[in-house]
Amino acid sequence: MPAPAHPARYHPALVALHWLVALLVTLALIAGGLVISDMPNAEPGKVDALRIHALMGLSIGALMLIRLAVRLRTAHPAPATTGIALADRLAPLAHGALYALVLLMVASGIALSLQSGLMEALFADAPMPADFHVFAPRQVHGFLADLLIALIVLHLAAVLYHALVRRDGLLRRMGFGAR
Ligand code: HEM
Ligand code: HEM
Repeated sequence: MPAPAHPARYHPALVALHWLVALLVTLALIAGGLVISDMPNAEPGKVDALRIHALMGLSIGALMLIRLAVRLRTAHPAPATTGIALADRLAPLAHGALYALVLLMVASGIALSLQSGLMEALFADAPMPADFHVFAPRQVHGFLADLLIALIVLHLAAVLYHALVRRDGLLRRMGFGAR
């Protein structure tokens, strides 16, 4: 049976990817910002922490590209309304920016690893670079992380507004069940 033009929920594959990516991005932001960036590069555990961080970041990138493909190929619920015209116009831009920022975090992480010699340190036993901050992609990676955190906070505020003020059942659209 063909899916309706505007189903009640997102496609289950998109729902699964949304929550998996939300969890992984939150963990990567916390680990990167609160743990890894505070560790001196000479600390023995840093290379292991960064190996996990890089592999997790690359996995997030792959999941995000799959998610983009699923998003482009499946039907979505009709655009939600907040009752505020400007917010309704900004919502699709904010969703697009979430995709873009996550992918740019991955790209800047890869650029930083290639430029600083981190790849060799992680996977070929080479010594760790002395300091990442001398490389431009490190500043970009940190700045994008701050932007992404701000956008996720805005995203959560919007979800709470729908759930508590509008009480329009928006969260169910990003859940499993009949479409
Ligand atoms: C969505 C994916 C990613 C997220 C959310 C993320 C998040 C972060 C955060 C929050 C920081 C600390 C920034 C700061 O305090 O200024 C950081 C640092 C870093 N990340 Fe990522 N990252 C991601 C992907 C990657 C990838 C794919 C790589 C490498 C291939 C990578 C390599 C690094 C490195 C080398 C640092 C610097 C650590 C330091 O300065 O000591 N990241 N990341
Ligand atoms: C953990 C807290 C989160 C909650 C409660 C949440 C909730 C939701 C809900 C209810 C929707 C459906 C909106 C609608 O029906 O129009 C949605 C959509 C969306 N969320 Fe989240 N979200 C969270 C975290 C994230 C994170 C971390 C990202 C960034 C990667 C993200 C990216 C998106 C995107 C891009 C959409 C639009 C649908 C799509 O293209 O996949 N969300 N979210």
